[in-house]
Amino acid sequence: MKLCMIGTGYVGLVSGVCFSDLGNQVICVDKDLEKINKLQNGIIPIYEPGLDELVKRNIKNKRLTFSNDLKNSIKKSDIIFICVGTPTKKGSSRADLNQIYDVAKELSKSLNKFKIIITKSTVPVTTGDEIEKILSRKNSKNKYAVVSNPEFLREGEAIRDFVYPDRVVVGSNDKKTSKILKKLYSPLIAKGAKYVHTSRRAAELIKYASNAFLATKITFINEIANLCEKTNINIDDISIGMGLDQRIGSRFLRAGPAYGGSCFPKDTKAITSTADKFKTNLTVIKSVIKSNENRSKLLLKRVYEILNNKIKNKKISFLGVTFKANTDDMRDSSSLKMIPELSKKGAIIKYYDPTGFKKEFKNYKNVQCAKSLSICLEKTDLIIIHTEWNDFKSLDFSRLIKNKKTFIFDMRNLYSAEEMDKKKIKYFSVGRGS
Ligand SMILES: NC(=O)c1ccc[n+]([C@@H]2O[C@H](COP(=O)([O-])OP(=O)(O)OC[C@H]3O[C@@H](n4cnc5c(N)ncnc54)[C@H](O)[C@@H]3O)[C@@H](O)[C@H]2O)c1
Repeated sequence: MKLCMIGTGYVGLVSGVCFSDLGNQVICVDKDLEKINKLQNGIIPIYEPGLDELVKRNIKNKRLTFSNDLKNSIKKSDIIFICVGTPTKKGSSRADLNQIYDVAKELSKSLNKFKIIITKSTVPVTTGDEIEKILSRKNSKNKYAVVSNPEFLREGEAIRDFVYPDRVVVGSNDKKTSKILKKLYSPLIAKGAKYVHTSRRAAELIKYASNAFLATKITFINEIANLCEKTNINIDDISIGMGLDQRIGSRFLRAGPAYGGSCFPKDTKAITSTADKFKTNLTVIKSVIKSNENRSKLLLKRVYEILNNKIKNKKISFLGVTFKANTDDMRDSSSLKMIPELSKKGAIIKYYDPTGFKKEFKNYKNVQCAKSLSICLEKTDLIIIHTEWNDFKSLDFSRLIKNKKTFIFDMRNLYSAEEMDKKKIKYFSVGRGS
């Protein structure tokens, strides 16, 4: 099939490349010329394990191309995936749909024959209806079908998630397009993915409801961790004990920093805003948002306690700054709240992240990117393990820390408190009592 991905970011690039690997002809389009130039030269603009190899393979076998010519790419394709960003609108909780509607207007000018137009971007309920309205101004109804096919991939495991999804959700109001999409996804269905056909609005809501539920699970366990700290219980025992109940499940049940990333923060806000519009009060999700906003403040408070409220000139080393491991994505990472706050209080901060320098901290004089883990750990008062990269999971701190007064605050519970105690390392973690 001839596909066009509009927006070549995390979702558009990964899904475009994977579709081409399944034998389809794919054009990935982006308005960012620098990104397209890089991709045309085999340079991958994001960190995503395994992506490099797939891109090269499919460029070589001529199934994958990159372009910034939207009009022509649309004309050459039968199925168009909209994969542009849907960030939070400034000053509100709503999803900003400008990128989606700009694309819809472009599409409307270029429908030379029947095309299936799919939102893969996460969009609020009724966005498909709006896209249809835009298209209908210039085109007859037999020129297009508007479908919702939300994407559930996780950064860091995006290729695996795309190739082996739990489910493929297709929301279309007619059976013919659903049949075509079922065929497109048939290699994944053959490997065990469930194909779920719903109304377009239902598919739009499934995505938001799923993300809001996962965010709720994280927030829930973070709050239980707070109780564990007061009652001298190990949160890891609670996660195991709860997670083994198949109705609950063990994933997204690990205490840690506030959830971040490009999806949960914006999607939880957007679903409550959509619900408000339809006069429905989603009180659970609203309190999840509030609790998560408090989480970074709470962990900062623990940092102050560990340092005895003397932050000025204290040397703090952050291990990992991305919102999770195996991605370079900094969007809404809790480090963006914690590092500026500590820097404002006069701390001298070094960070080491396997994905390197982060422009988000470049304007902070007392925040520096360390070139290596050992440089980051040199002469420090406090080590904060912020992101659960494998690189940080089995460090020999007895050897690495020269200053015996150095504290470790492990926000991901990567290490055993007992082992650290035996080694006489001043170690703090999350939700583990004293
Ligand atoms: N990142 C994830 O893990 C993830 C997972 C599932 C769903 N989603 C959803 O997918 C959507 C895209 O997310 P992302 O993380 O890939 O975003 P992104 O910001 O990485 O990529 C979006 C791309 O769209 C391009 N773009 C914007 N307007 C354009 C236009 N008119 N023409 C061509 N290109 C245009 C931008 O230049 C950018 O490269 C969002 O709605 C997001 O919520 C993201």
